[in-house]
Amino acid sequence: MEKLAVVKVGGSVITDKTKNFTVNTKNIDRVASALKALYSKGWSLVVIHGGGSFGHPVAAAYNLNGKVSPQRLSRGFAEIRYWMTVLNTRFTRKLLSAGVPASPLQTSAIAFNRDGELCRLDTRVVYSFLEIGAVPVLYGDVVVDTRRGASILSGDDVAARLSVALDASRLVYVMGAGGVYDRPPSMPGARLLREISPESRLVVGESRGVDVTQGLRRKLLAAFWAAQRGVPVAIGGVSSIIEMVEGGEGEYTRIIV
Ligand code: IPE
Repeated sequence: MEKLAVVKVGGSVITDKTKNFTVNTKNIDRVASALKALYSKGWSLVVIHGGGSFGHPVAAAYNLNGKVSPQRLSRGFAEIRYWMTVLNTRFTRKLLSAGVPASPLQTSAIAFNRDGELCRLDTRVVYSFLEIGAVPVLYGDVVVDTRRGASILSGDDVAARLSVALDASRLVYVMGAGGVYDRPPSMPGARLLREISPESRLVVGESRGVDVTQGLRRKLLAAFWAAQRGVPVAIGGVSSIIEMVEGGEGEYTRIIV
């Protein structure tokens, strides 16, 4: 499929990570208008969003990535499924209102983990949505785990895997900070890196609020994984979405392998 972009929108962008179950309406509107502009220019889009303050606190409360009793596990599974559906519905509504034919697609219905790592992803449904011109909207989710019962699957990994499987022309990670910095962006003198490679030496800080999927570290591993398989990858802020997808000049970080 020509002009196909896979766009992961971080939970820290679309939610307030310091306030549970709170969306960031302003940011969602900005994401929606950028996606609408791209869709109007003929881009096919796969969108994946993170859990932010809807997914991570619940996953942490039920210790979903640790040792849990079967009762806690099934209850936690159900609670996370519920809250991710709420966030997905609120996000998708905004995209629809902006004119993007955003169609929710439950990640846990097409994915399985094994020991906390993605082991199976059925991409046929995603592809069939694209074929009719729809924009599938997936998300980081709790999924059935063949070893542990259930575990968290980061949207970062879903995005990387889909971009390779669908041979996307671009994989874009939208995050709160405007890209990858040489040290945590809150530190004085932090500089945006225009390019990074798996050999780059980075000081990766902790993300704000609860994050059960290890924030930037995991995102970078996923980004390098896709880039090493031939997908051009960019990481940056909401204001650079269009440039990142089109490969234009802008304030963001490109992955070089
Ligand atoms: C996490 O997905 C999903 C859950 C905690 C249920 P992500 O790892 O993609 O979420 P963000 O982008 O860090 O919020």
